[in-house]
Amino acid sequence: MRRATWWLLIALLLTRTIAQRAVPTACEDNACRCDSFTRLICHCTEEYEELTLRPDGAYRIPSMATAIAIEGCKRVIFLSETIRNLIQLRTIELRNVEYVVINERALAWSPFSRDNEVDLGISIKIINSTVNEISSYAIQGQINDILISDSKMINLKPFAFSSLTGVKSIELTNNVFTNIEIQAFKKFTTANFILRGGEARTLPSRFLSDVEVTNLFRIEGVTIDTLSSLTFLVSLPKRVLIENNIIRVLEGDSFHITSRGPVTFRNNTVSAVSKGAFLGFTVDKEVLSVMGRQELLIDNSTMTDVLPSSLVYNKTTLSLRVDGLNLNVKCTCQLAGEWREVLNDQGGIVNCWYDLEAHYISVPTFVDSRCGSFKQTFWIFVIVGIVLVMLIAAIVIFFIVRRENEKRKKMQVVLPDGKTYRETEFHIVVERAELLTTDL
Ligand SMILES: *[C@@H]1O[C@H](CO)[C@@H](O)[C@H](O)[C@H]1NC(C)=O
Ligand SMILES: *[C@@H]1O[C@H](CO)[C@@H](O)[C@H](O)[C@H]1NC(C)=O
Ligand SMILES: *[C@@H]1O[C@H](CO)[C@@H](O)[C@H](O)[C@H]1NC(C)=O
Ligand SMILES: *[C@@H]1O[C@H](CO)[C@@H](O)[C@H](O)[C@H]1NC(C)=O
Repeated sequence: MRRATWWLLIALLLTRTIAQRAVPTACEDNACRCDSFTRLICHCTEEYEELTLRPDGAYRIPSMATAIAIEGCKRVIFLSETIRNLIQLRTIELRNVEYVVINERALAWSPFSRDNEVDLGISIKIINSTVNEISSYAIQGQINDILISDSKMINLKPFAFSSLTGVKSIELTNNVFTNIEIQAFKKFTTANFILRGGEARTLPSRFLSDVEVTNLFRIEGVTIDTLSSLTFLVSLPKRVLIENNIIRVLEGDSFHITSRGPVTFRNNTVSAVSKGAFLGFTVDKEVLSVMGRQELLIDNSTMTDVLPSSLVYNKTTLSLRVDGLNLNVKCTCQLAGEWREVLNDQGGIVNCWYDLEAHYISVPTFVDSRCGSFKQTFWIFVIVGIVLVMLIAAIVIFFIVRRENEKRKKMQVVLPDGKTYRETEFHIVVERAELLTTDL
């Protein structure tokens, strides 16, 4: 009896280990291998061009994996919970992949409790790839940094990046964003958030929602069609830099940012700036009470469809400095009038397009040379003067011509009786003259 149970146990264990050994892991995938550091490295070839990453079953990722590096595949799919139990995992890198799908919770990773002080997290890199979809809640938990560069982002679902902890940087560089849904980045804290280069059609409302950026918030060199209202709901950045962008439509309150430092809006070209486009910038209460108002700088930017009301800002928390604003519209005295109040209010350098010389000149310079009240009345005087002179000339010429005509038609006839007859027509005079002569 005892012996029998022993044998049974041994047999059970044996079959189990054999079964386990028989189930291949991702290391045995045709495109992949695992190195001595237990990194899973996959290079797709023409023969093996697809890869599915899964948490269990055959070809699951081995639980000791420290890294996942994938390159050159036609198609890579991360199934749900792929990395949940990979405690050793530190990096995930995708390069030159033509079609990536990251399913719900596929990259959710939080093996350590939140109170735990360990600074462990995952670094995610996606380079030169086409990401067809990042599903809702796809990326969650202890993520150290995220870099996505030179890639196409086709579908970003709501909460794609959400509930992240310990994030140091999120950098999105030279990507083309096609279809981004609201709240793609939701509720987490990161030290830096950088969106640099590339293009986006519409950045939707709440693209970043309840995101704390504790150090640098930077949008640089991006071509954006429409920046919706409340696109960036961000708090706490020490520095806000919005530079070198080309934006077609900047809606009101696009940047809803509570900053802990200055805000710089420099060298941007915006075609249409809605009312209150800058009204969403404000300053953190504590910083305001300790350091006072922070500067909102508008420098070297060109705006086409813009009104002074587009530049209203939160005066209780910020001071506006306009170091260079080119209004891409023809200088007129009316335009100057509209902007006078802004200029009187806070000074600054606002230029308009001077058609005659085809360059920008400052609005005050234009006013000085063309629109002072004296100048305007002066021009009125000049025009009235010219009209008067022309009128007088016309009248004079009219009378001269009439007199000449009359001179030609009328003659004076002096008759022999010594009387002078005037205004008598010639032929009648001749007749009467004959009669008179016969009388003599
Ligand atoms: C980017 O990826 C494509 C394949 O998707 C590849 O053909 C190309 O060489 C890659 N470019 C670079 C710079 O690696
Ligand atoms: C200003 O922005 C434009 C794009 O709008 C860019 O081409 C140019 O290099 C930028 N200038 C500087 C000095 O950064
Ligand atoms: C100012 O803006 C113009 C036009 O966008 C750009 O060419 C120039 O490089 C910018 N200069 C600086 C110092 O940003
Ligand atoms: C300015 O900012 C403060 C603090 O964030 C806020 O309470 C106030 O409503 C803002 N004022 C305007 C006009 O938006």
